[in-house]
Amino acid sequence: MQTAVTIHAVRVQVAAWRKHGERVVFVPTMGNLHAGHVSLLEAAKQHGERFVASIFVNPMQFGPNEDFNHYPRTPQRDTGMLAAAGCDLMFTPDVAEMYPNGADLAARVEVPGISEILCGKFRPGHFQGVATVVAKLFNIVTPDVAIFGEKDFQQLVVIRRMTADLCLPVRIVGAPTVRESDGLAMSSRNQYLTAEERRIAPIIYRELTRARDALLAGARDFARLDALGARALEAAGFTVDYFCVRDRLTLDAPRPGAHELVILAAARLGRARLIDNIQL
Ligand code: PAJ
Repeated sequence: MQTAVTIHAVRVQVAAWRKHGERVVFVPTMGNLHAGHVSLLEAAKQHGERFVASIFVNPMQFGPNEDFNHYPRTPQRDTGMLAAAGCDLMFTPDVAEMYPNGADLAARVEVPGISEILCGKFRPGHFQGVATVVAKLFNIVTPDVAIFGEKDFQQLVVIRRMTADLCLPVRIVGAPTVRESDGLAMSSRNQYLTAEERRIAPIIYRELTRARDALLAGARDFARLDALGARALEAAGFTVDYFCVRDRLTLDAPRPGAHELVILAAARLGRARLIDNIQL
């Protein structure tokens, strides 16, 4: 596996691959890799010949009171995992390489509407930071295909919208959520949980599953399912940001007869903010 810390080095390598007609598949990450990230590289193999992963903890997508400084950084372990997963090029820029004029004054990509609901309501500016850094990474790597996890379902919808609206020549592919054996969605932020909180954390998936089963059994009172899910999480000790049934494509409130649904939840437990979802 090659490594690059400059934009220039990535461009030189990708241009060489293109010249040989090889398709480039890209997996952006913030590092501290786990089996969920590795599954994206596995999925990548169906879509091309060359695989690029980036590791960049993007300051623009963290709020002023969020965990940018404490976000787990494990570069040596990540390098080994990417090499073992068959990655060809690991791009690990520093903040100055990505934001030469500083992140605060950098040009930004805004995806209105979808960025302000659900997580966007609780993390103002977050999806603008995500859209901006992903657009920059696409312009650097120029991938044919980019893979994103369905774990961050709203992020995937934001990226799809941005890519379509800006006519970016990249195909966006979603990959299923990888879970621990007790159902908890894998996440770098699970490390913030104490042993007691870790025992409680899988209840998010349990409640999402319960709501999905109710929908599959014909329940159509979405507001009631939302309230039941939120109440169950609060009773278990979570502080709930949202628990709601939404349209799978737009993330709007579903029309009464809708069947393309997703149930999304975000809840805080101790220091961790956990998100998860199930599609129907
Ligand atoms: P990060 O949280 O590191 O996630 C990188 C990619 O891994 C995302 O596409 C995410 O959805 C996926 N992922 C995380 N946990 C997963 C799991 N349990 N199963 C499957 N996929 C999983 O998401 C980001 O970084 C950043 O916002 C980024 C897109 C890199 C922009 O900075």
